[in-house]
Amino acid sequence: MKRLRFTLALFFVILAFNACKNQDSKTSQLVENTNRWYMNAAIYNVDVHVFKDSDGDGTGDFNGLTEKLGYLKSLGIDVIWLAPFQPTTNRDDGYDITDYYGIDPKAGTPKDFLRFMQAAKKLHIKVLMDMVLNHTSIAHPWYQQARADSTSKYRNWYVWSSRRPKDYDKGMAFPGVQAETWTYDEVAKKYYFHRFYDFEPDLNFENKEVQAEARKIITYWLKQGVYGFRLDAVPFMIDRPERGDKDKDPMYFVLNDLRAEMSKSNADAILLGEANIPPKETKLFFGENSSRLQMMFNFYANQYLFNSLANENAKSFVNALQETHEKPTQSQWAYFLRNHDEIDLGRLSGHDRNTVYKAMGPEKNMQLYERGIRRRLAPMIHNNQKLEMCYAMLYSLPGAPVIRYGEEIGMGEDLTLQERLSVRTPMQWNDSVNAGFTSGKTPVRPIISSGDYQYQKVNVASQQKDAHSLLNTIRHLIEVRKKCPEIGLGKWKLLKTDTDDALAIAYQYKGTSLITVYNFTGKNISVNIDVQQQQARLSNVLSTNDHINLSGNKLHVALNGYGYKWYKVTD
Ligand code: NOJ
Repeated sequence: MKRLRFTLALFFVILAFNACKNQDSKTSQLVENTNRWYMNAAIYNVDVHVFKDSDGDGTGDFNGLTEKLGYLKSLGIDVIWLAPFQPTTNRDDGYDITDYYGIDPKAGTPKDFLRFMQAAKKLHIKVLMDMVLNHTSIAHPWYQQARADSTSKYRNWYVWSSRRPKDYDKGMAFPGVQAETWTYDEVAKKYYFHRFYDFEPDLNFENKEVQAEARKIITYWLKQGVYGFRLDAVPFMIDRPERGDKDKDPMYFVLNDLRAEMSKSNADAILLGEANIPPKETKLFFGENSSRLQMMFNFYANQYLFNSLANENAKSFVNALQETHEKPTQSQWAYFLRNHDEIDLGRLSGHDRNTVYKAMGPEKNMQLYERGIRRRLAPMIHNNQKLEMCYAMLYSLPGAPVIRYGEEIGMGEDLTLQERLSVRTPMQWNDSVNAGFTSGKTPVRPIISSGDYQYQKVNVASQQKDAHSLLNTIRHLIEVRKKCPEIGLGKWKLLKTDTDDALAIAYQYKGTSLITVYNFTGKNISVNIDVQQQQARLSNVLSTNDHINLSGNKLHVALNGYGYKWYKVTD
């Protein structure tokens, strides 16, 4: 009898998915993902310089990070994404590299790095590193030779123009801070192109030697054990600066080449692309059968998520999820709430952007680059229940969840610091002097020491002791997520609800199913969800004693303000 009920339930789940398939052509990609290690990986982004200082010099280092690997393991982290740690002039927080093959001495020695890699491996934590190939630092020896000697092979490694191009003040990555993209070099007596700051000249990827060097760099790091790269500024890296009659198609082949090269060293290694692109370009960046990037941050959905959070209405986020639904089955979206940069709201309409500003970054000093907000998530949301709902959502979106160090305890920002440094303050470990980050007198960057988010109030040690802390909530979410392979591997679809107050998603993997529901508003709501399924038992996997016996094809869920549920669907 039991088996019969189970078979029936399964039959209806399958029926429901097929029915939806016919109903909506946009959900045509209702297929399971290929089971690869990154599909469901919990990723943690850390800047070694501000995480943990082991030697008291005030700067975090690899030995400090190694000490804290147990902490990350206990949180459930599968992958560490290391922010840039190579030698740098440090004018763009390490994204201005002066030697691709080295380790910034402030972060440790090559030996320390390898010790860290071995310790991570022992704990089955994979390591990705930032790979900044779009540009070098202006102090990089390649650029120095390129500018000084027109016959040097490095001259053509960068992008030059004898006259000031017409678009010299267009296409800035940092509007409001950066004045131009072509700057005159007094030594070269030419203009050089820089998508970002003028101290970050773009490398010329049309040059085969540059392409070869990029392959050499990634191979070098793969040999040190990294499992792949968070590839910086991908659209800019493969883009061709406007130069008259030049072919304007982006150089997607560079991504194919990097992938092919990577698989020679490690067939499992990945490229996780930083590519803030519109949905119609998704396939171009992932490539046919995922031949280019295996992963990309879903920047598109991120902006609409913030729009929805500000409006307390799920609709625009629902649409964005639908628009980014289709992708190759071997590729995966990386979802995030906040990262180390400003929240980029550039794709929202002026009206919507202003709504987000008003709700989450009302002061001018909180806004940046005419499009974003330079705050951490906790102060932006400023409501514990809503914050918790955001993380429950993050860990159940159909992709791999990425958080940044300090998010798990709800750290705040320091708006006295320049640009994006506001969200890059040292990790707050405990309430002792300097938050347990360093025993030295002067931390590399000020530690948040006043207001609601000061380290005396917001720190790892105190949250470890509190069963209901954000830290323990996130730990629990990750733990449960690992028991729900449906989320990252399954087919998924947005369920129709009778209110835009709520978001509901159904996932199905190898015959098992899951439904998650979120209330975007602060009020208690009851939502009717169209499940097209006749009989099933739904058990909330995040809390005990919460079951629904479904009969009929409407699922009725009551949610408290900013409430959420994850239901396993069984017989
Ligand atoms: C994107 C990185 O996320 C950002 O932090 C950096 O400033 C630019 N790329 C330039 O490398």
